Amino acid sequence: MVLLEKGYEVLLVDNLSNTRAEVLDGIEAISGKRPEWLNIDLADPAACRSALKGHQLDGIIHFAAYKAVGESVQEPLKYYQNNLGSLVNLLDYVSQHPSCGFIFSSSCTVYGQADQLPITEDAPVKAAESPYGNTKQIGEEIIRETAAAKGLKTIALRYFNPIGAHASARIGELPLGVPQNLVPFITQSAAGLRGPLSVYGNDYPTEDGTAVRDYIHVVDLAQAHRVALERLIQGQGQDPMEVFNLGTGTGSSVLEVIQSFESATGEALQWAYAPRRAGDVIAAYADTTKARDVLGWVAEKSLDEAMKDAWAWQVALGSDSH
Ligand code: WQD
Repeated sequence: MVLLEKGYEVLLVDNLSNTRAEVLDGIEAISGKRPEWLNIDLADPAACRSALKGHQLDGIIHFAAYKAVGESVQEPLKYYQNNLGSLVNLLDYVSQHPSCGFIFSSSCTVYGQADQLPITEDAPVKAAESPYGNTKQIGEEIIRETAAAKGLKTIALRYFNPIGAHASARIGELPLGVPQNLVPFITQSAAGLRGPLSVYGNDYPTEDGTAVRDYIHVVDLAQAHRVALERLIQGQGQDPMEVFNLGTGTGSSVLEVIQSFESATGEALQWAYAPRRAGDVIAAYADTTKARDVLGWVAEKSLDEAMKDAWAWQVALGSDSH
């Protein structure tokens, strides 16, 4: 969306394993443009090669990965095969087209429970808490080594907690089945599609006892991708792999998110405390200095705005949960 609005020609490659083709209708409704879409599995080397053959790409933003932490514990091979297979195949293309910039969708999960908050990019990468987190850690290593060997310039963007939807309520998150993440569960519960929200843990060493995260509006996240891609297209990349945290720099507890949702939407949410969830860290929020000073990017949207946009998207979806 953000790239189309800036006049870029966009090629979408998605096998619909975790979204629906209708997303193209939403993109067209908002931008007036319908990007070319290739329905192929990027983890299939032959399919990936044939799909990209003949395309002179200025840049690739690699989002194509499974991202449910809990599912990755149950199905580790599915995550390694898909998340790393697709990465290797795309890096094979970039190695043969070194002028093509490469942006990797990484994650703050690489930090685990950081020793210091806010978390800077040079905080130590800790043992992954899940196969999902491990695919992000291994993915960064694969990129760093390949880029160094092939003289590539790449960027890894470490997302904190993306939330919200496009303000038009035409495109947004479509979680498969019961949402694992907090905000889609909140909106589906408020819409009557799920029971009360379980707040996982109220005995954390935080102000209100609930865990703290850095919730960033997905449109702010999208803008950061455009800025990072333009850095590489303009030949400003500095290292084989530069790393940037993408967060707001503010931590919010689960209770604060609930309060924000209720005040921003006027909807009352049913919730109850439940035991802690395995694998959760106590608190994680970003030091955003590097993204500000090097990319010239800061998150602009508030938690309340994200809640409002997430709720508008849920209302637009109606009872049609993916
Ligand atoms: C947030 C908080 C839960 C659900 C996510 C992604 C991960 C990465 C980082 C991008 C935690 C609590 C949740 C619920 C709850 N993003 N919670 N009840 O675990 O921080 O990880 O962001 O790569 O891919 O999964 O996000 O939304 O699952 O949880 O109390 O029903 O909400 O315990 O404290 P998380 P989350």
